[in-house]
Amino acid sequence: MSKKLLILPGDGIGPEIVTEAVKVLATLRDDHALDITMDEALVGGAAIDATGHPLPDATLELAKECDAILLGAVGGTKWEGLDISIRPEKGLLGLRAGLNLFANLRPAILYPQLADASSLKPEIVSGLDIMIVRELTGGIYFGEPRGVRKLESGERQGFNTLVYTESEVDRISRVAFDIAMKRGGRLCSVDKANVLECTELWREVVTTAAADYPDVELEHMYVDNAAMQLVRAPKQFDVMVTTNMFGDILSDAAAMLTGSIGMLPSASLDENSKGMYEPIHGSAPDIAGQNRANPLATILSVAMMLRYTLDQPEMAGRVEKAVNQVLDAGLRTADIMSDGMTEVGTDAMGDAVVAAL
Ligand code: IPM
Ligand code: MG
Repeated sequence: MSKKLLILPGDGIGPEIVTEAVKVLATLRDDHALDITMDEALVGGAAIDATGHPLPDATLELAKECDAILLGAVGGTKWEGLDISIRPEKGLLGLRAGLNLFANLRPAILYPQLADASSLKPEIVSGLDIMIVRELTGGIYFGEPRGVRKLESGERQGFNTLVYTESEVDRISRVAFDIAMKRGGRLCSVDKANVLECTELWREVVTTAAADYPDVELEHMYVDNAAMQLVRAPKQFDVMVTTNMFGDILSDAAAMLTGSIGMLPSASLDENSKGMYEPIHGSAPDIAGQNRANPLATILSVAMMLRYTLDQPEMAGRVEKAVNQVLDAGLRTADIMSDGMTEVGTDAMGDAVVAAL
């Protein structure tokens, strides 16, 4: 049966990079018999401008009906003055929560062709291949109560709540253990159990789940140390699992180890492997509309979609190979440009991947 995809270009460079990824999907559909249909909808600032809301009901409905979503990016300076409850980012958070996409997979892989682009020495990052599994629908991002209140003294106080139930921790840890089984067999759970009760419970639940995965070597690490180890000796990690906010921060740091955040895809999955796929980077309003953005993270997100939701691992490998070929050929967008390479724009990079397919 044909799989229904929903395309959400979003804001900033979102539409440009998504256009290139859709070219890849259309090529797989037309030339390689990938049985898909594609629909498009509004999210983020683009949706605010058109409807007043970052996640219109119509978009959430389409998102619930489809098998997989490809999202560009949301947000931009234009909407920064809005109340936090209706900012573009709320569209993204609403999709994650509304579709129960609790498991966020963020691979940090160093492409050997880009070893020079990393801010760390080549010997520290060469061969880097980490999978960060970030809890995505709980923790301090969604915890109640939250807000800003007026104290009796007249001073205002801001507050958010870090909460995790045992079942929330258990299900994300099992996703991470399963991934570790298929990779190097090592899992590092990141918490702040020395200070936060909530993550003390996190550590306990992960340790209990570990009993069902005797072949995975489990280690626990405090988040401050994990941040340090990521920039000191990142190759010690295989799979990392952590809370929503720690995962947000650590995945940006891990991304930069690979040289460019413009190369890294992500998947956000529910219990049944329905998924939303998006590049890790943001909407980069400063370069939007200039044909300068790197579309490879979005194209690699298509590869993740093929692997995790559409059950087409062979096609996923084909897309990843095509990306490697264009890098081998020396094509670079501005963010990964180095001496002796050929600088190309967003559309030329997408066309090169399509040609390599
Ligand atoms: C991410 C982003 C989002 C997050 C923002 C845009 C809400 O930083 O996907 O990492 O904080 O989760
Ligand atoms: Mg982030």
